[in-house]
Amino acid sequence: MGAIAGTLEGKVALVVGGGADGPPRPGETVAMGNGRSIAARLGAAGASVAVTDIALERAQETVDVIGAGLAIRADAGIEADCRGAVEQTLAAFGRIDIVVANVAVPGRMPLRSQTMEDFERAMRVNVTGHWITAQAALPSMLEQGSGTFVFVGSAAGIQSPGRSLAYEVSKAGQLALMRHIAVRYGARGIRSNALVLGVIDSTMVRRGFGVDPVAEAARGSVSPMRRQGTTDEVGDAALFLASDASSYVNGQSLMLDGGTSIAWPAPSAPAPAP
Ligand SMILES: NC(=O)c1ccc[n+]([C@@H]2O[C@H](COP(=O)([O-])OP(=O)(O)OC[C@H]3O[C@@H](n4cnc5c(N)ncnc54)[C@H](O)[C@@H]3O)[C@@H](O)[C@H]2O)c1
Repeated sequence: MGAIAGTLEGKVALVVGGGADGPPRPGETVAMGNGRSIAARLGAAGASVAVTDIALERAQETVDVIGAGLAIRADAGIEADCRGAVEQTLAAFGRIDIVVANVAVPGRMPLRSQTMEDFERAMRVNVTGHWITAQAALPSMLEQGSGTFVFVGSAAGIQSPGRSLAYEVSKAGQLALMRHIAVRYGARGIRSNALVLGVIDSTMVRRGFGVDPVAEAARGSVSPMRRQGTTDEVGDAALFLASDASSYVNGQSLMLDGGTSIAWPAPSAPAPAP
């Protein structure tokens, strides 16, 4: 952490869905998800961090990991909550420099069984909530002439695992939102990029796909690097996109997948469910 100390001194970050909800790794006292790891990295780099979560205690747990910050209860699927989170961040810290759009609900249904309710929930949380948050944060960023958005994307927004229609469509939509901001507001000092995650050993994946050794080994076999990514690696990449180290990077999807997306044939992709 030493090398990053001070990188974000004086900056304020809002991490949307920055708690963690899933089984910890063996030996972990606090379960580490992507959002929590990103929030911790930004905090370690000197940023003041506001963390939202649908469950206040999960946001607070992240603030406790950082050692300071603001925990906000907000449902990313509710417009008033998204706008309220931005207002609370501005009230507490006076500015917003970084917005991390982390939260996403996975969805579970292929086309044949896809329901409206599941589809609309995924779109509301994974796309609508993030554009509302961006819209609310933008005026203060435009006024100060700077700001960065980091979207936590998924390879499922670029390639199809054939599992969840709602998740795949919403994660593709999230990348369109990321590019729109980059193009529309780039000339005014606003940057917008995405981390596109492959298989990361995170709370979301452990919760969704299990923690038994067979499942773990299968996940580890997908990438040419023959291991899952770590939440530390997600945190480091997010810090890069959030900081001035990436000052001319705009509108990009940074693949964090160990090379899975460029391998042909895929090393050992598990078959989609029938
Ligand atoms: N782990 C992977 O391999 C992988 C792969 C691709 C993409 N991703 C992306 O990573 C992100 C999530 O990762 P994580 O490990 O932080 O997940 P996580 O499931 O631990 O979720 C983080 C937090 O989001 C909160 N949350 C759920 N619904 C919410 C809502 N409506 N409003 C506000 N908060 C809500 C949960 O309470 C939880 O604390 C998603 O964008 C996902 O698409 C992960």
